[in-house]
Amino acid sequence: MSTAGKVIKCKAAVAWEPMKPLSIVEIEVAPPKAHEVRIKMSASGICRSDDHVLTGDLKVNFPIIIGHEGAGIVESSNFPLSILSITAPVGLMYDGTSRFTCEGKPLHNFAGTSTFSEYTVVHEDSVAKVDPSAPLERVCLFGCSFSTGYGAAINTAKVRPGSTCAVFGLGGVGLSAIMGCKAAGASRIIAVDINKEKFPKAKELGATECVDPLDYKKPINEVLFDMTDGEGVEYSFEVVGTPETLAAALASCHLNYGKCIAVGVPPSASEMTFSPALVFIGRSLKGSLFGGWKGKEPVPKLVSDFMEKKFVLDPLVSHTLPFEKINEGFELLRAGKSIRTVLKFQSP
Ligand code: APR
Ligand code: ZN
Repeated sequence: MSTAGKVIKCKAAVAWEPMKPLSIVEIEVAPPKAHEVRIKMSASGICRSDDHVLTGDLKVNFPIIIGHEGAGIVESSNFPLSILSITAPVGLMYDGTSRFTCEGKPLHNFAGTSTFSEYTVVHEDSVAKVDPSAPLERVCLFGCSFSTGYGAAINTAKVRPGSTCAVFGLGGVGLSAIMGCKAAGASRIIAVDINKEKFPKAKELGATECVDPLDYKKPINEVLFDMTDGEGVEYSFEVVGTPETLAAALASCHLNYGKCIAVGVPPSASEMTFSPALVFIGRSLKGSLFGGWKGKEPVPKLVSDFMEKKFVLDPLVSHTLPFEKINEGFELLRAGKSIRTVLKFQSP
């Protein structure tokens, strides 16, 4: 029986308040309004930005359904989709209302996407129609990690062939930035992380050297200068999400033409100060949201490039769990054990 136009009851992982595990509860999902689509989720990755909501670092309105890296099928028309967080994170649809309720109480959405639910409603701006033969448990990564990291190197930095790059933070986003640097033809890619367990994968994906700042007495920016004969790297990418690592990434690049790309999401309340001397000779600092891609249009092409094996995604997926084990997925992330956990939703 068609569910079009009707309220759907389904399971979702609801965050009632910060610092608590998610609760899987039954919710009601209203039909989509004009320019919206209701999607049956197939797979969703767990990103550090979702965890920033749970730790309270990223300020949002609770209760909320988080998750912003998903893939699914449009409920009424069978289009496979990649779901992207392109709308502002106000927690409501553009008309100021929510499509989610739990026992009649409205729930907020996250980044206009809310992929940790068996069904979600998103604005048409936040979805891209992709090749129906692409595996949805990989396509979901185009919603955030891969597109964000790879695009930061390709689009925002426009990494030059033969250049030296440094990537701070080797999660799903940072490893994708390494792939982007490699695809752009960088000749040295220095991977930086305080968790050495991340190094083998970084090497597999293109890092030429790996450094752990905790192994040195000097600040990591000085270590990177030493490693580059006092030149500094041409491009540095901050993919951790702290003001300290952003300051270190900025101070690691070449004084005249170095470009530091800020990719990690900083805590809402954070501020940073730095000496103007860091930039006045010519370094630049630039932010990169969703890899600098212009909206959703490039996503279908990225998916076809993936299908043509122009890059790999399997190394980014360290764990696959059923949706019901979502809290286990967050524990793996917090313990530094996972790159991406992909949650799979049951088929009907
Ligand atoms: N120096 C270097 N690396 C660090 C440091 C540090 N001081 N602190 C943490 N890290 C490393 C962690 O060990 C981890 O490997 O940064 C990596 C971050 O990876 P994930 O937590 O898996 O994050 P990811 O999902 O890749 O997202 C990275 O981008 O989307 C944003 O909010 C997200 O800010 C986060 C960033
Ligand atoms: Zn993300």
